[in-house]
Amino acid sequence: MSSVIKLKGKGVSRIIKSKVMLSPLAGVTDKVFRNLVRKWAPESLLFTEMINATSLKHGYGITKIKQLELEQGPIGVQIFDNRPFAVGEAAKLAEDLGAFLIDINMGCPVKKISRKGGGSALINDRLLAVELVKRVSKAVQIPVTVKTRLGWNNKEENIEGFLLSLQDAGAEMITLHGRTRKEGFSGKADWDMIGKIKELLEIPIIANGDIKNPKDAINCLKKTKADGLMIGRGVLGSPWKIGEIDLAIKKLKGFKEPNIEEKLLLINEHLDELIKEKGTHGLLIARKHISWTCKNFQGANDLRNKLVRAIDAKEVKELLFKAIKTLNNDQKILT
Ligand SMILES: Cc1cc2nc3c(=O)[nH]c(=O)nc-3n(C[C@H](O)[C@H](O)[C@H](O)COP(=O)(O)O)c2cc1C
Repeated sequence: MSSVIKLKGKGVSRIIKSKVMLSPLAGVTDKVFRNLVRKWAPESLLFTEMINATSLKHGYGITKIKQLELEQGPIGVQIFDNRPFAVGEAAKLAEDLGAFLIDINMGCPVKKISRKGGGSALINDRLLAVELVKRVSKAVQIPVTVKTRLGWNNKEENIEGFLLSLQDAGAEMITLHGRTRKEGFSGKADWDMIGKIKELLEIPIIANGDIKNPKDAINCLKKTKADGLMIGRGVLGSPWKIGEIDLAIKKLKGFKEPNIEEKLLLINEHLDELIKEKGTHGLLIARKHISWTCKNFQGANDLRNKLVRAIDAKEVKELLFKAIKTLNNDQKILT
């Protein structure tokens, strides 16, 4: 199996040098978070949050990718919408702004999106899904990919036929979250089924779902023979996770999980960058990340409760540095 993923594109080819990718995560994988992930994962393909086609062209969406060209390494832009013309236009704009590739969201189960015919609803509207891939492939020179699930209500819906038609329409890589839309996040991701689909398709298949650490990643690659892996919830609070898994797959040593002091400094840096990027609203976003990162060590619960209740960034920083000062040689918070 090749260690790199090659995508031809219509006019611009791309090589992905790592098998481990960061999932698009709405409300999480913004520029600031991607930059943190990048510190540990220089070669990985990182995805933006899903962006609505109209908002990308006319509204808030554009702010999400406005400085793509300043980011290090490959960034895939994920678009959701069910109107081929709008998605084509948005994709072109994202390409002009520096997208490495365009991914079309055909898996989001959120009702607000699927009710309007986007996300996972496209599994049920296969002609439209094919039309979307064709339109976007025509609009851009870079590769076009799709992220979807194993079905709408169940796994007997000939999802294989659906995926083959997307491949024929020009999709150059497909990420499969190993659950149906109905399953949401319940049960276990079906890696066996991803493996069966991998055998049928010619384009690279990326396995997704329930990969949280190097052991899961190695098992999933073994079971599915997928060309790559995409990690979602496993990075919440652990921006080093993509890099950690990448090194393990490449059988390279050298990963060291940040100790408590480093985690607290990371929270501080994340907060600073969020405030720089989003003003005081950055604190609200930081709280979410604090609650994911500040856990699983002695004193974490108490500190977390204080951090998420702090009224401003200054108070968060004071609490962080006070905690760091009390750390003893065993990395235990003593107060
Ligand atoms: C908070 C959150 C936001 C998500 N946002 C998106 C999104 O914008 N686009 C998308 O295709 N999937 C989205 N997903 C799904 C993930 O990309 C991924 O497919 C799913 O979480 C399964 O992978 P995991 O088990 O590694 O988390 C989201 C999931 C979560 C938990």
